[in-house]
Amino acid sequence: MAKLWGGRFTKSTNKLVDEYTSSISYDKELAQEDIEGSLAHVKMLGECGIVSPEESETIRQGLQTILEKVKRGEAAFSIDQEDIHMNIEKMLIDEIGAVGGKLHTGRSRNDQVATDMHLYMRNKTKKLIALLEHVQSALLEQAKQNVDTILPGYTHLQRAQPISFAHHLLAYFWMFERDKSRLSDSLKRINVLPLGAGALAGTTFPINRRRVAELLDFDDIYPNSLDAVSDRDFVVEALADCSLIMVHLSRLSEEMVLWSSQEFRFIELDDAFCTGSSIMPQKKNPDVSELLRGKTGRVFGHLIGLLTVLKGLPLAYNKDMQEDKEGIFDTVRTISGALQLLAPILETMTVRKDRMRHAVEKDYSNATDIADYLAKKGLPFREAHAITGKMVLYAIEQGKYLLELSMEDYKQFSPLFAEDIFEALKPENVMRARESEGGTAPHQVEKQLKLAEEKLAQA
Ligand code: ARG
Repeated sequence: MAKLWGGRFTKSTNKLVDEYTSSISYDKELAQEDIEGSLAHVKMLGECGIVSPEESETIRQGLQTILEKVKRGEAAFSIDQEDIHMNIEKMLIDEIGAVGGKLHTGRSRNDQVATDMHLYMRNKTKKLIALLEHVQSALLEQAKQNVDTILPGYTHLQRAQPISFAHHLLAYFWMFERDKSRLSDSLKRINVLPLGAGALAGTTFPINRRRVAELLDFDDIYPNSLDAVSDRDFVVEALADCSLIMVHLSRLSEEMVLWSSQEFRFIELDDAFCTGSSIMPQKKNPDVSELLRGKTGRVFGHLIGLLTVLKGLPLAYNKDMQEDKEGIFDTVRTISGALQLLAPILETMTVRKDRMRHAVEKDYSNATDIADYLAKKGLPFREAHAITGKMVLYAIEQGKYLLELSMEDYKQFSPLFAEDIFEALKPENVMRARESEGGTAPHQVEKQLKLAEEKLAQA
């Protein structure tokens, strides 16, 4: 099949080269963005008198027809036309005749593909922000039900201090809030138009780049044509932002796997979101959370992949840059899928308050509060810590928890102890006592919930 660029060639391309260099199998994902960019370009060409108003209109109609076909899933793409840009141009010429060949005036595939990628990133970034918001509302709903739910808080995965389950869930809310803020910030750099840079040096046609920017709703244009076609920073940035989202999703997933295990049983996942075993009839596996955790690998891989593709590239466009696509497409699919599932998983999970409560009663996670008690009575905290350490050791030897020791036991370690120590060591009081701003006391958690609700309402 004749190539749109076939003029200077005397032979047809080797079939393997066609297959190796073609990107249509995946860049067809950019079909709508490509047409959107072309519609703005051809409107500008008409307005600037580079093509006649009639030609501009004919091309617009042709592009519109193709857009409808794409939306209906009826556009037939072929590797003979290498990539999405040439496939659409070829379809246009087939649709409206030779005048379709005027669309590419004053433009190169280099500034065209960069524009497509900017449009794609803008759409997807906004979608990811919206999906993150769904997960945040699911977290918020669960948090609201669990302000007074006490579970052990961990450091080193050893029981540390009792905390409110809402407090734990809200920690993730704030991670996703930062993720959203990073994505929103990146829109500033995404919203800059490369089109009009030509292949690398600009164009001899009297184009109006600002007009195209206006039509496509970009805030600005690239001031340097070389940079415009060579820049994929915004894709790297998206991959980095997505990698951090995956870190957060993966940490939450890990906790959900732990919490739903027999050893913890802090939560029960809804049957609709679990899978069974082909051999062990009793199994109910948290496959979604595991897979989510596992898919972090591919997203990190795509980030490193693109950084590596770009690192040694001379200016300006190089074919290597075609490798920017599959990684980001896969990343967006991976994260969207994960976020879509996570919201209902969080909404439908059962929180086993009884199990959490049982756990905090059977541990030494109120030890800090003994040390704090003594310190509040004037003992230097370091001494209070040492005394409490000895008490913990003593209690373990006696096979008791700290609340099970007698007043005599306490007095033996320090005369500063009085009856109120037993009240202070109850899990709800231990939690309630952490009244510092941002702490786990229910009163503070309520304040945090309000702040979180305000953030979501602003969105
Ligand atoms: N398919 C190409 C890409 O994705 C489009 C740009 C091709 N430009 C070129 N000069 N071969 O990067």
